[in-house]
Amino acid sequence: MIQEVDPQSEATKQRRSTGEANPPARRNEEWREEFPYPWDEDEIVTRRDTLRFLLGGSGALFAATGILAILGNLPKGPDVQAVPVAKLGELKENEWKVFDFPDQYAQGILINLPRKGLVAYSDVCTHLSCAVVYRENGTLHCPCHEGLFDASTGNVLAGPPTRPLPLIELAIEGDTIYAVKVVPR
Ligand code: FES
Repeated sequence: MIQEVDPQSEATKQRRSTGEANPPARRNEEWREEFPYPWDEDEIVTRRDTLRFLLGGSGALFAATGILAILGNLPKGPDVQAVPVAKLGELKENEWKVFDFPDQYAQGILINLPRKGLVAYSDVCTHLSCAVVYRENGTLHCPCHEGLFDASTGNVLAGPPTRPLPLIELAIEGDTIYAVKVVPR
C-alpha cells in the first residue's frame, strides 16, 4: 500500500525546519549488509546463462534452417502452391538447376549440396536482381557486381548485397521434389 506524505505531519514539519527535504538515502553498503547476496556469483551465472541462451538459440536456428529446406511430405490444402521442380536422384552432388517458382516470372535455384543435400533459393540477387549461379566451392555467385552467398544458408559472404537469398521450401511426394513456398528473410 502506498503511504501518502501528510504535509502537515510533525515529522514533515520537523524535516522542513531542519532543511532536510527527504530522509537521507540509505548508503549502498548498508543495504548490502542487510540483504547479503552473492553478487559476484550472480553475475557469473547471468553471463553463463546468456552464453547458453545464445548458443542454444543459434543451434535452434541452424536446425530450423535444415527443417525449412525440405518439409517432407507435400502439404495439402487450397492455399498450397506446389510446383514440381525435379525428380529424386536427378541431381548429383554439386549439380544444380533453375526452375520457375511461383510462376514463370520468378526463378529459383535447386542445388544438391555435398553433405547437406537439396536446398533451394530464389536465384534473384538481393542487390540489384541479377541471377546468381552456383559454384562448386559451395557459393552462389552474382556476376553483376561480384556478390557472393553461402549456398548452405543463402547468407551473404561478400559483395554489395546486404540481405540473404530468400529460401524456397521443398517437399517430396513419391519420386518428385516440389517447391512449395518462398520464405523472405
Ligand atoms: S546485382 Fe548481384 S551483386 Fe549487384
